[in-house]
Amino acid sequence: MKKRILYILLAIAVVAQFIQPDRSAPPIDPARDMLAMTAAPDDIRALVQGACYDCHSDRTRYPWYGHLTPVNFIVQDHIEEGRSVLNFSVWDIYAGSEAAGECGETILEGEMAPGYYRLMHAHGRLGPEDQRKLVAWFEANLPGGGEEGPGGEDE
Ligand code: HEC
Repeated sequence: MKKRILYILLAIAVVAQFIQPDRSAPPIDPARDMLAMTAAPDDIRALVQGACYDCHSDRTRYPWYGHLTPVNFIVQDHIEEGRSVLNFSVWDIYAGSEAAGECGETILEGEMAPGYYRLMHAHGRLGPEDQRKLVAWFEANLPGGGEEGPGGEDE
């Protein structure tokens, strides 16, 4: 009896893997990318792409466990939320937004990249020197204070 329940649970877990969220992203237009539009230097590109692009661009690289149900739905939800607040792939829309101006601040406050992401990804962890460099670059190149992005704030 116990074994049967175990097999049933296992079967459910296997079948659940076929239920996957929509991971599609719109086609990329390199000309609308934040790093291109600001002509960012290579070291800044590497830092932003490593620490922020998985959630704040249409160029997400999914980890293997990002395909496991039900983790996949949680991961996809954070990505959709991140993109709606701030999307570096369509910078013509987000440049000058409130969130754009908060990029440096969120790093300084340890809010971004999120703690669970830093835990799971080495490229999401910025050392003190990289952090200082990136914050200074954000402050100098991404003025904000304007309207909220299309996604609104914190939702
Ligand atoms: C794992 C996904 C993820 C990563 C990686 C990530 N963010 Fe976010 N970010 C979010 C989500 C989700 C929100 C909206 C909810 C919130 O504020 O927590 C957000 C919100 C923001 C906001 C809006 C202000 C605010 O506090 O809500 C800014 C600015 C921001 N992120 C900047 C960054 C920067 C800069 C990086 C890279 C250093 C980064 N994020 C990396 C998921 C992420």
